[in-house]
Amino acid sequence: MLKTQIEELKKRKNAVILAHYYAPAETQAVADFVGDSFYLAKIAKESLADVIVFCGVQFMGESAKILCPQKKVLMPDLTADCAMAHMVEEGLIERMRQEYEDLAVVCYINSTAALKCKSDVCVTSSNAVRIVSSLPNKNIFFIPDKNLGSFVKAQVKDKNIILNDGCCPVHVRMQAQDVKAELDAHPGALVLSHPECESGVLELSHFIGSTADIIAYAKECGAEEFIICTEDGVEFKLLADNPEKRFYFPNPRPCCADMKLNTLQAVLDVLLQEDKEVFIDEKVRERALLPLERMLELG
Ligand code: 13P
Ligand code: SF4
Repeated sequence: MLKTQIEELKKRKNAVILAHYYAPAETQAVADFVGDSFYLAKIAKESLADVIVFCGVQFMGESAKILCPQKKVLMPDLTADCAMAHMVEEGLIERMRQEYEDLAVVCYINSTAALKCKSDVCVTSSNAVRIVSSLPNKNIFFIPDKNLGSFVKAQVKDKNIILNDGCCPVHVRMQAQDVKAELDAHPGALVLSHPECESGVLELSHFIGSTADIIAYAKECGAEEFIICTEDGVEFKLLADNPEKRFYFPNPRPCCADMKLNTLQAVLDVLLQEDKEVFIDEKVRERALLPLERMLELG
């Protein structure tokens, strides 16, 4: 059985499996730690394992390697990528820095290592508002996600937050009309959304937060039915925590194909062969570490 083989290899190699909530259910089931981006970055940094198998997308594996260069970071599929992580024109960052003397470039962790190198601080959806509020700078260039950026901008009114034209293709595919159709079908349901959704969806939402925040809210809240506006991998944990509650997703179900590359077979293969390793140029790593460490301090 795949699961037994994975358990044996993990012990033998002192490996730990980290999985994002969007990974396939069977992979979340064998993982040692499952969480949102911020939690997984912290766990990677604190882990005493020799090998980290990161079941996520490239920026997550890269962040783990940047934070723990001495560990072997493997990914079940090195091609699993986040489309949004590339959605910044690098020259634009330089132009913004010339235009605003006190500019802070705030980089959503969903970004390449090269973009982190040009940034002052990283954030995730669970700490972006808190971190941006705590910065001394008045002018903020928020990259790459315009939707998380606008969500922060709406709450941090004393700063000039400049948005960049990037977005998550999976989250922007959900439209307000799709959410309204679910609300019509389930009138008592609460809408819980990720801030990568567009404003039309966020306006219909009863709660907005990271994947971990959505999961915690659904557990703590007394309601029985929820419309979930984020990638459908979160359903595994939502149902595990709340077997008596009901969860609906907008139609078509939001699915990140790259996250779904982290199959159980791919986890076993990479543990066996240790061939899909994340490498980062040392100069890039040293520079990209600065905004990530600042996030861990502030977040
Ligand atoms: P979280 O940090 O909320 O887990 O989000 C990561 C992500 O990729 C959302 O699309
Ligand atoms: Fe990137 Fe969107 Fe997939 Fe999250 S859901 S990893 S933001 S493409």
